[in-house]
Amino acid sequence: MYLTNNQQTILVTGAKGMLGRDLCPMFEDEGYIVIETDKDTLDITNESQVLEVVSDVKPAYIIHCAGYTNVDKAEDESETAEIINAHGTDNVAKSAEANNSCLVYLSTDYVFDGTKNVPYEPNDITNPINKYGLSKLHGEEAVKKFCSKYYITRTSWLYGHHGKNFVETMIANADNTNLKVVNDQQGCPTWTVDLSKAIIDLIENKEEYGIYHLCGGGQTNWYEFAKEIFNFCDIKTNLQPCSSNEYIQKAQRPKYSVMSNDNRLRDWKLALKEYIELRIE
Ligand SMILES: NC(=O)c1ccc[n+]([C@@H]2O[C@H](COP(=O)([O-])OP(=O)(O)OC[C@H]3O[C@@H](n4cnc5c(N)ncnc54)[C@H](OP(=O)(O)O)[C@@H]3O)[C@@H](O)[C@H]2O)c1
Repeated sequence: MYLTNNQQTILVTGAKGMLGRDLCPMFEDEGYIVIETDKDTLDITNESQVLEVVSDVKPAYIIHCAGYTNVDKAEDESETAEIINAHGTDNVAKSAEANNSCLVYLSTDYVFDGTKNVPYEPNDITNPINKYGLSKLHGEEAVKKFCSKYYITRTSWLYGHHGKNFVETMIANADNTNLKVVNDQQGCPTWTVDLSKAIIDLIENKEEYGIYHLCGGGQTNWYEFAKEIFNFCDIKTNLQPCSSNEYIQKAQRPKYSVMSNDNRLRDWKLALKEYIELRIE
């Protein structure tokens, strides 16, 4: 049951996802009342259910983590990606506005085409080159259209202890004798814990509403990222660099999706080191 009307209540969509599982306890530790929802309790594609649940809770903030997140599959299932990431976000945004809630929408570096060679700023022109990025951009547009109080938070190359991600995939494949990773896509690895902390900071500091880039500081490519993972794990491998032309994926990725984070998150290597230390403990 959703009984509270406390201004410090936050409602989280997609709470059972990789980000949600770190973000919810961190908000609780800060003293917020956290209403965790996922597909089984709040299907964002169900307009009447979204309105009913949000109206019951009347949260001060909705942290909208739910999404269709399989970048390659989205090429074949673009309609499903649109229904969840665009129309689902329409529903969440309208309900947020109707209940005077501030919406925090999780978006992605894949809204950019990667043709820049200096870090993307929040107001740079978007031009997604894959279906996932397009559906997330449509979600951003819904937030801007329906909400007067919102934060669009773009993140990238996310990893966390509670989900499938690149760090865990690398570790699981460490003894592969033909391990090749692309070195021609630049971006910013981001730990879910650092991202959650940055979202809490946005809210606590009552930052101006708008678009923010919440990604790890610095930049790297996937090959260098993998090298650093094995370095911190102290694992010897046969890791080799390759190009995107050699490692064909269904969805095209931007060559360069580095975002400027305004020093909101620490350097990606420091975060990765701590992630690995906690993982090994
Ligand atoms: N992972 C990344 O590298 C990355 C990068 C940039 C931005 N983001 C964004 O950050 C957010 C969190 O990412 P994540 O990695 O934590 O994703 P995730 O682990 O895939 O979690 C997403 C959650 O949303 C749920 N969901 C799917 N359809 C739903 C629906 N119709 N109604 C309610 N919930 C639904 C999923 O449930 P099921 O698993 O049961 O489908 C899952 O629990 C997403 O919005 C994503 O687009 C992620």
